[in-house]
Amino acid sequence: MPALEIIDLRVAFGPVEVLRGVSLSVEPRETLGIVGESGCGKSMTGLAVMGLLPPGGRVSGGRIFLGDTDLLALPERKLRELRGSDIAMVFQDPFTSLNPMMRVGRQIAEALSLHQGLSRRKARRRAVEQLEAVKVPAPKSMARKFPHQLSGGQRQRVMVAMAFACHPKVLIADEPTTALDVTLQAQILVLLKELQEQQGTAVLLISHDIGVIGSVSDRIAVYYAGRVVEHGSAEAVLKTPVHPYTQGLLGALPGDTERLVSIPGRPPDFATLGAECSFAPRCAHRFEKCSIEPSLLAPAKPKTAEQRALEHDFRFVDLDNTEIPGNVIALLPEKAARKHELVPVKLLQNVLVVAMSEPADKKAANAARTAAGCRILPVMADRAAILRAITKHYGGEPPVQAEEPQDTEHTGACWLVQEPGAGARETMDD
Ligand SMILES: Nc1ncnc2c1ncn2[C@@H]1O[C@H](COP(=O)(O)OP(=O)(O)OP(=O)(O)O)[C@@H](O)[C@H]1O
Ligand code: SF4
Ligand SMILES: [Mg+2]
Repeated sequence: MPALEIIDLRVAFGPVEVLRGVSLSVEPRETLGIVGESGCGKSMTGLAVMGLLPPGGRVSGGRIFLGDTDLLALPERKLRELRGSDIAMVFQDPFTSLNPMMRVGRQIAEALSLHQGLSRRKARRRAVEQLEAVKVPAPKSMARKFPHQLSGGQRQRVMVAMAFACHPKVLIADEPTTALDVTLQAQILVLLKELQEQQGTAVLLISHDIGVIGSVSDRIAVYYAGRVVEHGSAEAVLKTPVHPYTQGLLGALPGDTERLVSIPGRPPDFATLGAECSFAPRCAHRFEKCSIEPSLLAPAKPKTAEQRALEHDFRFVDLDNTEIPGNVIALLPEKAARKHELVPVKLLQNVLVVAMSEPADKKAANAARTAAGCRILPVMADRAAILRAITKHYGGEPPVQAEEPQDTEHTGACWLVQEPGAGARETMDD
């Protein structure tokens, strides 16, 4: 199951949408790079996930899942608990997150006390260990310094130490190296990678620099005007970009190419976007069809309730046992199992709803429901019966054999990609 899954996310300021249906997912230990020009919505994606959109900004559509947790359905109090523990963010400017009035060791220690309930003493010791882990010189004395007493690179390391202190499942790194010189950039990227590997973190790495993104990402999503216009494995996107915008971005990268080609024009104003492809005014390949904006050929489709449920390592519930760890299978009456009810129940509660029968013992079922924290009534059933019910309800094979889909798609939201041969496919510098 992805550590983070974003489905058709929309963010708006007033009537203007700045994220226009973004779908992404990141697996544990994976790095997904998000790249695109300034203003295309990279940071808004991270901030929407963190529940930290700036005033006036709101999520106007879509869903965000941290594992099984529907983040947009969480009350602010719960979201605050998750921030800094299960999900953390590193910003370009450490001053955004570091308190200038507090010694850095204490800041890390406070995060540890808050999220992990460590005593003050233990938290301080762990804070120094964290500083050691991010390889700052003399961690003990570093812990006693204020942010302004550190160099830019040291401050960024402190940010990284803080972000990883509580072993987050997902780390969003928004331009973590942009303010640093090239040598420090590389050091911070290596550090992020090391900690990610140690902790199994899923990383969403945001940068306007496709060079930075390309050097560490497993997959890449290319943003343009609040949409993903291309996504695929890093290798595919870098070696065989299919969207003219990605080709332009790569042309703008200093590399072995003989000359640097920049993308003419500017990103569009969100307020005046029309029906045509948002890249059309800058695209050397546009043709008649581009008067309508194409969608990604094979977008990161929202998983159906069934698919999502099938990914769970579900278990069977013994109603005499009121401690029900992990996922449960629930049976509920047919009328409640209609699609519109299935989705919220299942997505929110990590419960696979499979079939239709009233529980025989409603009292026991209620106890189980309370223990599982779900709104539906689990009942006992044997494994074979449940598998039969799943097969009958969803068709096809029983789901236990379902394999993780390999996400190596290389797609582009461009008519040229969707209908090869359409329009004239010159190169950007023809
Ligand atoms: N507080 C705000 N009020 C209104 N619009 C905003 C606000 N903050 C950002 N935006 C708009 O949202 C769009 C997306 O912004 P975002 O910060 O996500 O861009 P970005 O891709 O992170 O750019 P950069 O590379 O410059 O950081 C921008 O075009 C901007 O105009
Ligand atoms: S759809 Fe493709 S070819 Fe048409 S304008 Fe957009 S990027 Fe260019
Ligand atoms: Mg940004």
